[in-house]
Amino acid sequence: MYRQVKKAVFPVAGLGTRFLPATKASPKEMLPVVDKPLIQYAVEEAVAAGIEVMIFITGRTKQSIADHFDKAYELETELEQRQKYNTLATVRNIVPADVACVHIRQAQALGLGHAVLCAKPVVGDEPFAVILADDLIDNKGPGCIGQMVDVFLEEQASILGVERVAPAATQSYGIVKTAGKAGSLARIQSIVEKPRPEEAPSNLGVVGRYILTPSIFDEIESTGRGAGGEIQLTDAIAGLLKKESVYAYEFEGTRYDCGSKLGYLIATVEHALQHQELKDDFRRYLMQLNLEG
Ligand code: G1P
Repeated sequence: MYRQVKKAVFPVAGLGTRFLPATKASPKEMLPVVDKPLIQYAVEEAVAAGIEVMIFITGRTKQSIADHFDKAYELETELEQRQKYNTLATVRNIVPADVACVHIRQAQALGLGHAVLCAKPVVGDEPFAVILADDLIDNKGPGCIGQMVDVFLEEQASILGVERVAPAATQSYGIVKTAGKAGSLARIQSIVEKPRPEEAPSNLGVVGRYILTPSIFDEIESTGRGAGGEIQLTDAIAGLLKKESVYAYEFEGTRYDCGSKLGYLIATVEHALQHQELKDDFRRYLMQLNLEG
């Protein structure tokens, strides 16, 4: 009987090619949406879900992620001397003191499944969350991964966060086929990575949120290379399905696909329109833009 989910894995070793040249020397997960990097939104969502250990699967050029969640002595001393106490608090409270951050290098970028497998020595025999920072998810109530932890503890089975995607966009997602009637929670019958629209079993796309039982590690170990020549988490989940129930959960909230330039811009505009300091001026600016011209 699983009683809590304490660990979250953040695969952050990807190359971020869609945002080059911005991501040539710095990680895509550090791209800011207004004033906070994507990875911080993801970690905050995990903290709000009661997760205590953040496991980053990193690669070359990702040092700034480790620095971001570390203490910045010089900066803190400087801000203290200048009596910038609000800014100091912002810098100090990026992650609560009782949260541990672990960084594991994924030496070769062999795919999402491989990245998750790199976390095995730290996760051990426990259920865990996987959070992909380029899916930024907002909700007024509990965050997406918090909702999924609740569902996991209820069902005692792996849960994938899903949403309806445009039928033409199935090639960008893991797509699931579910059993039974439509509802926010449904048992998955099959899952396939990035199918062409004519081959997709549905338009229920997996977003970057998973709660997985530790049995997934055995599945990844026996998964060969799949779509794009990579070891896919989706393929390992397809193996897991044959042994355990896995559920698709349609979460409450709004997802921004910050892995695409358009989704990233939309997230930026919408967050700016909610930002305490900026929202009024920014709204005024947008209103006077002559979008016809
Ligand atoms: C990954 C997964 C895919 C999932 C998607 C969600 O793909 O492989 O199954 O639907 O994340 O964002 P990526 O976007 O990394 O290519």
